[in-house]
Amino acid sequence: MSKGECNMKIIMLGAPGAGKGTQADKICAKYNIPHISTGDIFRANIKNNTELGQKAKSYMDKGELVPDELVVDLVVDRIKADDCTNGYVLDGFPRTIPQAEALDAALAAINDKVDYAINVEVPDENIINRMSGRRACVACGATYHIVHIPTKVDGVCDKCGAKLILRDDDKPETVKNRLNVYHEQTQPLIDYYTAKNVLHEVDGTKAMEDVFSSIVSILGE
Ligand code: AP5
Ligand code: MG
Repeated sequence: MSKGECNMKIIMLGAPGAGKGTQADKICAKYNIPHISTGDIFRANIKNNTELGQKAKSYMDKGELVPDELVVDLVVDRIKADDCTNGYVLDGFPRTIPQAEALDAALAAINDKVDYAINVEVPDENIINRMSGRRACVACGATYHIVHIPTKVDGVCDKCGAKLILRDDDKPETVKNRLNVYHEQTQPLIDYYTAKNVLHEVDGTKAMEDVFSSIVSILGE
């Protein structure tokens, strides 16, 4: 499939730190569709000290989910934007059954549906180690790992030159809570999308490029 010819509505599922954002970036670059990360939207709002950011921060810092009503309208509006007409990758949304139902209802209203739900599978044991090594760019949101995806210059973003940080919610205690919240509230979406015949699993413990190859074999060249 060549760039610009696709119309794929893709959802990335997976535990915190499974590599959803990393793979979503690669999918978006290959198929030329926008990457919509609710976590990135919230972090940008926190950085700009908006009302939404202030509300979201208290939940995010504890590793809890932001309430559905603060997320759903934001995403439903975002996917109506002009750049979404050829599809998009939703990363970090939906995260609860009510969010998935709200998305389906919004899509059904325009005679549309989710095409692919890609579950990036990584066991909990691997996650805590990954998160403590993650570094994120405060300016452009790019993500690195001190061992697996190092930057050219330590602590500096390859893409925009801004400073890299350890996310507040990547501290080990908070990561443990995020994993609990994931298992309770988000994992049920695997059954939800299986029942809709759109679920695909990929082994997220493999090297980044191998995970991406598995995804491309699902989405098509
Ligand atoms: P969000 O930003 O979505 O965080 P998350 O789901 O916890 O996931 P992460 O971004 O931490 O991980 P990822 O899977 O994207 O992994 P990454 O590619 O970075 O959400 C943050 C918070 O916002 C939530 O806790 C919640 O409070 C709130 N929120 C967001 N959406 C919400 C919603 N819909 N409803 C309610 N609340 C919401 O990779 C991780 C690390 O591993 C990186 O360092 C990366 O370089 C490295 N890595 C990636 N792939 C590989 C590989 N194959 N091998 C080795 N290392 C790898
Ligand atoms: Mg992410």
